[in-house]
Amino acid sequence: MNPIRTIIIGAGSRGNTYASYSKSHPDEMQVVAVAEPHSERRHSFAKEYNLNAEQCFSSWGNAFKQASLADIAIIATQDQMHVAPALAAIKIGYHVLLEKPMATTKKDCKTLFTAAKQSDKLFGLCHVLRYSSHYQKMKEIIDSGLIGEVITIEHLEPVNYWHMAHSYVRGNWRRLEESSPMILAKSCHDLDLIRWFADSPCKNISSFGYLTHFKENNAPDGSSHRCISDCAVEKECPYSALKLYMNMNLTDWPVSVITNDLSKKGREKALWEGPYGRCVYKSDNNVVDHQVVSMEFQNKVTASFTMSAFTDGHRRTRIMGTMGEIIGNFEIMTLSNFRNQKKDVVWEKYEMDEMNHGGGDSRLMKQFLKAVIENDSTLFISSIEASLDSHLMAFAAEESRLETKVVELT
Ligand SMILES: NC(=O)c1ccc[n+]([C@@H]2O[C@H](COP(=O)([O-])OP(=O)(O)OC[C@H]3O[C@@H](n4cnc5c(N)ncnc54)[C@H](O)[C@@H]3O)[C@@H](O)[C@H]2O)c1
Repeated sequence: MNPIRTIIIGAGSRGNTYASYSKSHPDEMQVVAVAEPHSERRHSFAKEYNLNAEQCFSSWGNAFKQASLADIAIIATQDQMHVAPALAAIKIGYHVLLEKPMATTKKDCKTLFTAAKQSDKLFGLCHVLRYSSHYQKMKEIIDSGLIGEVITIEHLEPVNYWHMAHSYVRGNWRRLEESSPMILAKSCHDLDLIRWFADSPCKNISSFGYLTHFKENNAPDGSSHRCISDCAVEKECPYSALKLYMNMNLTDWPVSVITNDLSKKGREKALWEGPYGRCVYKSDNNVVDHQVVSMEFQNKVTASFTMSAFTDGHRRTRIMGTMGEIIGNFEIMTLSNFRNQKKDVVWEKYEMDEMNHGGGDSRLMKQFLKAVIENDSTLFISSIEASLDSHLMAFAAEESRLETKVVELT
């Protein structure tokens, strides 16, 4: 079997992550083209994957003027640029792997769903957490019946204080108008997991949440507009851009996002001039920094979800069943079996796979390619149907938060 020929749309952080699978698995995947407007990124990507000028395009529009450059298109552009290239890729006849969120409005999600259903090619969403060994184990235990009937789910997404500052206060997802509500942008993965574990469509949702902390009125006395420009409180500020981008021993994400020049001088320039040098209290962010969601599913499973910036650690999940309970936190998972009163460790973190999200990035790629090769869409579990459900849950949660009401999903 020849490797699956792949075109990458958007050679940013995620586009590079998925493309890198071809390096460790050249027998399964070959990158044959890229569309990326940023010339420096396009050139370095071309060099990395030995692409010639005919295989490089300055936009998805140009790439899709030509039919059949590849077998699959991986679309990893920013949130508000998912629908148009995905529809175009479906039309050409590519198998499509689309980054989450599928779209930033309910209407666009439904349009994409309809187009994907009419295509005879595979369409999948990058809900990478489903593919982490941690959550695969959790689902396996639930499906085995060991904990009886699932009754309640409790799930925490700790955004982490520094990640919040990087992505949702200074970065690409800080403004609703330019990306999407935080509950969709950050937590559609989590709602997807909860829906998967509940194994039933969601019936009712209520949600509360606010942007409480990262606002000008909380700026400490003596703070400047940029952490690098004589801020009197920089040393004690946990959100300092200098701490995140200059002092931490990071050469990869998130430092790689702020500049292509990772030298000290290059990073300092980015902090003087770019968005990532701004004081977290004086940015133009407007997405929430904490949100809770309550859910009732059609099978009467109930679930609660908390997303908070003010955290430092991994996701934590508790599945409560009639015959047992599973508790997992990405480090360790325990199973209490009520039948025999035994409590066992059933999963422990093993060495991270070569890619992130608990190995989910690489397993998702493997599974998508397998589904294409074997022409069997059931092999890829983060299907368009499952993804539509979790996205509709996110829109309902946002409606509930904004209008202070319980939203019924029909
Ligand atoms: N699955 C996950 O866990 C996960 C994690 C992080 C981000 N994401 C999602 O992945 C997507 C990409 O995020 P990112 O961090 O890689 O963003 P990014 O900004 O690093 O990359 C997006 C790239 O798209 C390029 N682009 C812009 N216009 C284009 C066009 N017309 N044609 C082709 N390319 C174009 C940009 O120049 C940029 O390089 C976002 O939607 C984000 O929400 C998913």
